[in-house]
Amino acid sequence: MQGMEKTKVGIVGLGTVGSGVARLLLDFGDRTARHAGRTLWLEQVVVRDVDKPRDCELPKGILSDDLSKITGNREITTVAHLVGGLEPARSIMIALLESGKDVITANKALLAEHGPELFDLARELGRSIAFEASVAGGIPIIANISQCLSANQIESLTAILNGTSNFILTQMEEQESDYASALDEAQRLGYAEADPTMDVGGFDAAHKLCLLAALAFGGAPNFAAAEVEGIEQIELVDIRLAHELGYRIKLIASASREAGGASVRVNPALTPLDHPLAQAGGSLNALFIEGRRIGRIYLQGPGAGAGPTAAAVAADIADVIAGASRPVFQGAAEGLSPLPPGDPQQRVGKAFLRLVVRDRPGVIAGVSEALAKAGVSIDSFLQRPVEDTGLVPIVLTTQPASEGAVRDAIDHIEALEAVVERPRMIRIARI
Ligand code: NAP
Ligand code: HSE
Repeated sequence: MQGMEKTKVGIVGLGTVGSGVARLLLDFGDRTARHAGRTLWLEQVVVRDVDKPRDCELPKGILSDDLSKITGNREITTVAHLVGGLEPARSIMIALLESGKDVITANKALLAEHGPELFDLARELGRSIAFEASVAGGIPIIANISQCLSANQIESLTAILNGTSNFILTQMEEQESDYASALDEAQRLGYAEADPTMDVGGFDAAHKLCLLAALAFGGAPNFAAAEVEGIEQIELVDIRLAHELGYRIKLIASASREAGGASVRVNPALTPLDHPLAQAGGSLNALFIEGRRIGRIYLQGPGAGAGPTAAAVAADIADVIAGASRPVFQGAAEGLSPLPPGDPQQRVGKAFLRLVVRDRPGVIAGVSEALAKAGVSIDSFLQRPVEDTGLVPIVLTTQPASEGAVRDAIDHIEALEAVVERPRMIRIARI
């Protein structure tokens, strides 16, 4: 904007998110300038391979593969760090902080696994690390938990935090699409991580949930203690049968405060069809926050892709420059210990079990007996007609039972002679 002072900004990484941020700063700089009170001037962009084709046009001479073009330029005060993974992302972040830059990142894996080290370093150096874009794309969840809700005691978070998995599950259900083509489409749309096993294996959602749990419950992120299960084993038949029972399968990220620690887990779960989380389809992210004073609040919005994520990064850049960014974690990171996990075997909930059995008299009685032996009661039961192969698909849901008891029941059922394969267990969400 004319007449405004300039603040010089750098970007490291010009992939899906970096290109989106560059386009925003170059084409819509007035918006961020209005908020920052200064013009944000894109001075330098650093990538791994300068010869790669880009879908964003940069002013001449600002693209390089040499990080020292940023770290050595004292006029650049603020840098968007948009490189994924752990290394070299961690070393790049350290180099930026040590050269006196405030850093804005979307890299949740890095913060969930190396957060304490990086936030401590930023505090010692008097620099900021802002990371709104790292969780739930366009939903302003970091600001909500760390600022707006800071006077509440947050008790639990229940969420959909991975756009790619949500997109895949939605495509499988709505288009009867197979898993592989739904994943291809998510990658084409720029939702997926460079390594999509991070998405479908539940790790990306777990990284995000660890950051939220640490902010909400007051500890350091503890990714090593998270229980993580992805959607790779979900088949179309599970989706169809769940639907017949009144549920939709979602990758649910849930964290709750427990005596002396927190339970942090990501797993596929059956969610009642009329529940808002079941209705958040495509790449949407959605989140319930439950707190002592606020009760329950619900946020939903675009969770992945260049547009929403880049907008969150650009807003963080403007906040940092305007001095409106508060040190998240940095104020208290010293002395914070990782939140210890709860005991999963003690957790009580309902489960969905899918069995394939041989068509024999007495099979169902054997299954009921195996469940009874483990102390698990049946809630509902659905038997499909005998297939040409002589096999019978059976689905049952259980009454609330401890995970230990359900696992015992599965072991007993698998041992029955008429049972063809280990029963598939999917939890029913406790929402
Ligand atoms: P991406 O498309 O894979 O882009 C990564 C960028 O990092 C590339 O431009 C790459 O350079 C650059 N890079 C890699 N190593 C480098 C190095 N040593 N020095 C300089 N640059 C280097 O990744 P993305 O999807 O934009 O994601 C970036 C971060 O945002 C990740 O942490 C991701 O988890 C997070 N995020 C992504 C989304 C999303 O929807 N995609 C949403 C929220 C958060 P080249 O281009 O030259 O290879
Ligand atoms: N791969 C991530 C997702 C990007 O699908 O949600 C947003 O963090």
